[in-house]
This record gives sequence, structure tokens and C-alpha cells, in this order.
Amino acid sequence: MKNIALIGFMGSGKSTVAIHLSEKLGFNLREIDNDIINLSHYSTINEIFDYHGEEHFRKLERQAIISAAQGKKQIISCGGGVVASPDAMELLKKSAIVVFLHADIKTILERLNNNESRPLFRDMEKALVLYAQRLPLYRKYSDLEINTDNISPEQITEIIWKKYCAPTLGDSGNNMDAP
Ligand code: S3P
Repeated sequence: MKNIALIGFMGSGKSTVAIHLSEKLGFNLREIDNDIINLSHYSTINEIFDYHGEEHFRKLERQAIISAAQGKKQIISCGGGVVASPDAMELLKKSAIVVFLHADIKTILERLNNNESRPLFRDMEKALVLYAQRLPLYRKYSDLEINTDNISPEQITEIIWKKYCAPTLGDSGNNMDAP
């Protein structure tokens, strides 16, 4: 089966769901933010933004997505801004089922309150604009949209599993020999 890529705004739960899915399927976990850090000379996303700016960060992000799209048996947890690179998204779509985790802005604000690890969440007003601008893009590129406000990461994992994995892999999960 194809890779599974998770997209959605910062704080929508992609990383947690990706861990659950990778354990259930026995697929590798590909955390794109970590890949970007590895491609840079820094140890945090904030440093990349602060020393080289967003444009440089997006170049590295695009590179990380292109590389991830070449792999197989992976759960790819994307940064919230990945939808800003149309060519990377087209490549990603060829290699992965793309799932949009849609959290309400209220939920996101509660979750990211006081979290300083995200440079694009330093200015609340700009973050709200970004949220509105990206919603149609997440929808454009996804095969499935899941509203995550009132369900747990385990339930989200189960929805994705039932729709895409069980028909191919059978009911047991953790199938390393999956096609
Ligand atoms: C970003 C989201 C972050 C990270 C970077 C930029 C964005 O990832 O890639 O701070 O543009 O929305 P998460 O969505 O995992 O927080």
C-alpha cells in the first residue's frame, strides 16, 4: 500500500497520530520537521527561521518532502506549511494517501497556548490569517478530512486504519510484509 501522509495546521495532532499509525502498521515514522532540522546546521525550527528566514526553511521542507516521497512503508507527518509548495504536494500525493487532520482554531489555540517552539505562532493575528488561508489548501490536497476536535488520537488512527489499511493488510495490523 501507499505511504500515509498527515497534513493540517500546527497543533492538529499530526505527530501523535503518526506515532500510533506507525506502530499499528509497522511502517517507518517520518517526521518532516526532524528531517528539516537534520538537513540544516541547527537543532530547532526556531533557529532556522531566526537565522535564515522562512524562505530557507521552505526550501529545506520541500527537499525533505521530495526525499520522503521516494520512500515506502512510511507514515509521513508533515509540517503545517507543506501545502505552500504545490510541486512537493503533487509528488507527495503520488506516493501517499493524504489525510487532513482538521482541528478547530479554538482547539489549536488551547493546545498551543504558551508553546514557543513554533515561529509562525508567535503572532496570534498572523496565525489566524494563516489558518484561514490554508484551510482550502488542506482540503485541495487531501484524500480524507477528519475533524479531530472531539476524538482521541487512537480513534483517529482507527478511522484511517479501517478506511485504508484493513482492506489491504487485513485486521491484525503491524504487518511488515504489506505490499
Ligand atoms: C509550520 C509548522 C510547523 C513547522 C514550522 C512551520 C507552518 O510544524 O514546520 O514551524 O508553517 O505551519 P507543525 O505543523 O508540526 O507544528
